[in-house]
Amino acid sequence: MLILAIETSCDETAVAVIKDGKEILSNLVASQIDLHKEFGGIVPEVAARAHTEKMILLLKKSLSKAEVDLREIDAIAVTFGPGLVGSLLVGLSTAKALAYSLDKKLVAINHIEAHLYAAWLEENSPPKFPALGLVVSGGHTELVLMKDHGKYKLLGATLDDAAGEAFDKVAKLLDLGYPGGPAISKAAEKGNPDRFDLPRPMLKQDNFDFSFAGLKTAVLYLIKNSKVDINKNDLAASFQKAVVDTLVGKTLKAIKKYQPKSFNLGGGVAANLELRKRFVEAIHELPCAVKFYCPPVELCTDNAAIVGANGYFKAKNKEFINWRDLRVDPVAEIK
Ligand code: KG4
Ligand code: ZN
Repeated sequence: MLILAIETSCDETAVAVIKDGKEILSNLVASQIDLHKEFGGIVPEVAARAHTEKMILLLKKSLSKAEVDLREIDAIAVTFGPGLVGSLLVGLSTAKALAYSLDKKLVAINHIEAHLYAAWLEENSPPKFPALGLVVSGGHTELVLMKDHGKYKLLGATLDDAAGEAFDKVAKLLDLGYPGGPAISKAAEKGNPDRFDLPRPMLKQDNFDFSFAGLKTAVLYLIKNSKVDINKNDLAASFQKAVVDTLVGKTLKAIKKYQPKSFNLGGGVAANLELRKRFVEAIHELPCAVKFYCPPVELCTDNAAIVGANGYFKAKNKEFINWRDLRVDPVAEIK
């Protein structure tokens, strides 16, 4: 089954062609980082316009790279939310127009759910259920128990800032540039992670929720109250360690409680090398057998291949939607 996948939830225009839910025939991403850099963050109107400008060319390129004609596509999968309304609208309108004009089946994809599906791509032995998924992105931090395709239990989520958002905001405080995640991890390589004692928010609590706003404020006050110049690399490393400790600690608690067969990581923050390394070590030391899926970085950050993988399983289940009924939902939740 061939799925044409479209993703425009935030600041990446992405189109992919995916075969049978795992084989990537093409996976193109047009990043808008350079456009938003000068503003120090994403400007929604600029993002929406850039999606409109890039979409058709990217669509053509992706099909040609996959050597697939539009008529051969079995279904179109598109992200309907969560995300920025204007951005989502561009992907959705494109998918609707294609579905209507070519009489193709349409599948609506939740962006967070799609991040969980990075683990299925290019994988001969995909995750077994129950699987635990951790999605750490710019807007979300969610621990999800996947009982089967489409059958999820949200174990916990962030109560305020997402992990990626905290990376971005702390990078801004440290004047390290945009996007913050890669900037912090680069600075952290040269820093001492034990130099500053920062909080591990909610780690000791008996739940699976997260909170990163206080950690960000702790960094702010450290900078404000310091009488000497703070070593940015040390602070970046200490901050990164606090986030990683929290994410790994909470996830291990969930693994112990729910005993999943697999654990899969997704979302932009999963590109963080320290986080990946710490998860490899932690899972290796567990007494129970949990297979860890740590997808390549380009499948963790926003892309359309994950939308195609998720779309395949929904299409197989005949979860189609009429183009007339498909709406953007900027605050869509995983169900
Ligand atoms: O999943 P994603 O590409 O977009 C959203 O759905 O939000 O995630 C973007 C987030 C940004 O906050 C970015 O700073 C963060 O992922 N990120 C990282 C790294 N690379 C990207 N955070 C930490 N370390 C990284 N290496
Ligand atoms: Zn994302």
